[in-house]
Amino acid sequence: MSSKPKNTGGPLVLAFTAVLVVMLFVGFKGLAKTAKESYAKNQATITEIQEQQAKELKSRSEKAQAAIAQQEDMKAQAASPVAGANAELGKAKYALCATCHGQNGEGMAALKSPALAGQSADYIIRQLQNFKHGVRGADPAKDMAGAQMAPMAKMLSEEDMKNIAAHIGTLTGKAVHTLTGDAAAGKAKYALCATCHGPNAEGVPAMKSPGLTNLPDYYVVTQLKNFKHGVRGADPSKDMQGSMMAPMAKMLSEEDMNNIAAYIKTLAK
Ligand code: HEC
Ligand code: HEC
Repeated sequence: MSSKPKNTGGPLVLAFTAVLVVMLFVGFKGLAKTAKESYAKNQATITEIQEQQAKELKSRSEKAQAAIAQQEDMKAQAASPVAGANAELGKAKYALCATCHGQNGEGMAALKSPALAGQSADYIIRQLQNFKHGVRGADPAKDMAGAQMAPMAKMLSEEDMKNIAAHIGTLTGKAVHTLTGDAAAGKAKYALCATCHGPNAEGVPAMKSPGLTNLPDYYVVTQLKNFKHGVRGADPSKDMQGSMMAPMAKMLSEEDMNNIAAYIKTLAK
């Protein structure tokens, strides 16, 4: 019989191996868990950083946009015909104008004066220059109303004109009308006018065309007649803009003028 001790190595190794496997397994699970946790933590940090970066980018782009908007604003202001104007001084000067154009720039039918409220400063200043330099209102025989306005403009300096235009920009008087016409017929005729004055007669700055919606109908008709008969816009060398308008009025009958004025009224806000 063999005195060799019974070989217990086999089962021991097996037991050890089993323990090792279990330990490895548990260890691995633990490791995996830690890895998973730290991965999640990393991810959270990355997301946080990304969010912060996105926020920073957004605020930077918002700041840049605000700066651009401010620049555009400043540019527009510098380009504005009333840049640096003093509306308070303009208001004081407007007291005289108000006797014919109304406190609130609404115009006066009895005096054939137009509303000035709502008109662009660029246009107001150009017309004051026109009256001052005899481009408008120089001939009382042909243009009674214009001849009443001309001496008023002659009293104004460039500075006054700017200041007054700035004050007029604050006025909100609504034109009062005196005529009747066929607005539907006027609408058809207005299609041509829209190319320069805008589809809603709001005026097109790039074309230097005035807004028409707050002009009293009697004044619209008077001006169309003036343009038609060469009282206004006859000399392109002195009145570029008026000379663009004159040929348009020459195509209109008096009835057309009434009808167009009636249609323009319907566009008023
Ligand atoms: C005595 C009355 C009277 C006074 C005062 C007067 N205006 Fe006029 N103004 C008129 C009349 C009338 C017209 C219309 C002229 C025409 O039919 O062409 C007119 C036209 C105008 C126009 C042209 C508007 C347009 O749509 O083309 C402007 C701008 C204007 N006046 C500004 C002024 C300012 C600014 C003052 C003050 C400094 C002033 N007026 C003072 C009577 C007056
Ligand atoms: C080619 C462009 C053009 C077309 C088309 C045109 N206009 Fe004009 N119109 C002008 C311009 C520019 C002025 C400004 C003239 C000035 O500065 O004296 C003007 C001025 C006027 C005025 C004078 C406003 C005021 O306040 O004194 C009236 C009214 C007018 N247009 C009506 C019309 C009507 C109605 C039509 C269509 C039948 C028409 N326009 C078509 C360019 C145009």
